Amino acid sequence: MKAAEMFNLTGQVALVTGASSGLGQQFARALADNGATVALVARRVERLEAFKAELEKSGAKVVAIAADVTDRAAMIAAFDAAEKALGTVTILVNNAGIADGGRAVEFTPEDWRRMMSTNLDSVFYWAQEAARRMLAAGKQGSIVNIASVLGLMVAKGGASYATAKAGVVQLTKALAVELSFKGIRVNAIAPGWFVTEMNDEYLLSDKGAAIKREIPMGRFGNPGDLDGALLLLASNAGAYITGATIVADGGQVIQIKG
Ligand SMILES: NC(=O)c1ccc[n+]([C@@H]2O[C@H](COP(=O)([O-])OP(=O)(O)OC[C@H]3O[C@@H](n4cnc5c(N)ncnc54)[C@H](OP(=O)(O)O)[C@@H]3O)[C@@H](O)[C@H]2O)c1
Repeated sequence: MKAAEMFNLTGQVALVTGASSGLGQQFARALADNGATVALVARRVERLEAFKAELEKSGAKVVAIAADVTDRAAMIAAFDAAEKALGTVTILVNNAGIADGGRAVEFTPEDWRRMMSTNLDSVFYWAQEAARRMLAAGKQGSIVNIASVLGLMVAKGGASYATAKAGVVQLTKALAVELSFKGIRVNAIAPGWFVTEMNDEYLLSDKGAAIKREIPMGRFGNPGDLDGALLLLASNAGAYITGATIVADGGQVIQIKG
């Protein structure tokens, strides 16, 4: 089969959480560019509307839906709205996330809960809802969870983030073994460092320059560097891939310092 055909997403309905900035916007663009209709989800609706207008200029069919991923009623309403406008969601990109910082001994229960609720609980609930709806509609599909290299390794000051992202990697495998029999594949992408609003101050500082020097490829990720992994997992090109976590990090996690 020709590559363009294997990766073609025409007829697929994608929902991308955290589509108001950073990696989520790039994921939505890649899906739309390859034929999917796309529901953009985040809290900042004015950002979503502006991005929707941008994607529509290249002919994409897109809806913008305001929702907090930690709010289950808003989640149900978001799936209802996506379904009404575009049809059953067959590709879910669980991308919304927040970063933490600070030493573990200083975390408050609220800090810890906020991280788990946004970066792990929501991944479960949105995947569960997408799967329920695909099963009810008799559809097959693909769920792509955005983990992190910090789900595989740890760094000082990132206890809650790393724990949540490691949970995403395990959850991906656990959902895959339950859902793949019904034709719903579940996979994850573990990105290395990409300069986005989440970390730009840190990565563009002297500390960031030092981190960059230690990445085997000698650079941070560029916009588009995750498109290949996403499209592989979302499309028929990845038809037999499930439960996998694709690391895209310029070689960061394979290296022992020293
Ligand atoms: N950048 C990196 O180096 C890197 C590396 C590894 C993994 N990641 C992961 O990649 C994903 C995207 O991060 P990014 O770098 O693109 O960061 P970003 O630019 O800060 O984007 C985060 C997105 O998540 C949304 N979001 C956060 N909390 C939300 C909530 N409660 N409800 C709905 N949406 C929410 C934000 O939208 P609103 O504020 O408008 O709601 C925003 O669209 C995250 O899961 C992150 O952990 C990033």
